[in-house]
Amino acid sequence: MTDLPTVAITFTVNGVARTLEAAHHWSLLDVLRDALGLTGSKRGCDRGECGSCTVLLDGKPFNACQVLAARIDGASVLTIEGLASGGRLSGVQQAFLDEDGGQCGFCTPGFVMASYALLSSNPSPTDAEIREALSGNLCRCNAYGRILASVRAAAHRNE
Ligand code: FES
Ligand code: FES
Repeated sequence: MTDLPTVAITFTVNGVARTLEAAHHWSLLDVLRDALGLTGSKRGCDRGECGSCTVLLDGKPFNACQVLAARIDGASVLTIEGLASGGRLSGVQQAFLDEDGGQCGFCTPGFVMASYALLSSNPSPTDAEIREALSGNLCRCNAYGRILASVRAAAHRNE
């Protein structure tokens, strides 16, 4: 068996420093799910079309399936597992729960992360701004109305 070439990467995920050897072809999603066991970020399409793998990379939302592992060396990654603290859900998570912002829930981590990124930079978005910020996230259950209500609720709570 031929050993695949690897690259050493050091980064922080949810505030914890990590160092590992990643195969050159690995994506950030491979690192999170397969190497670190952080399976909250979902693998929907694996080609940048559904947003179910959305994480924050240095504070900005990215599709983790489209980011090469080597790119995250020195970066800070926030995943859905890092939003709750002290056993309490974040405001965005709680709003999705209270407003029934998901049905099967597969898309929910991606929507929550994209919404968290939006509200971090724009605490009082208009509906048009919410739709624009979430335009890269797909929900096969068609729960878009409840998702919009959830983001509105999260924004109102922060007012
Ligand atoms: S799994 Fe990454 S965009 Fe669909
Ligand atoms: S709630 Fe099922 S895919 Fe969105």
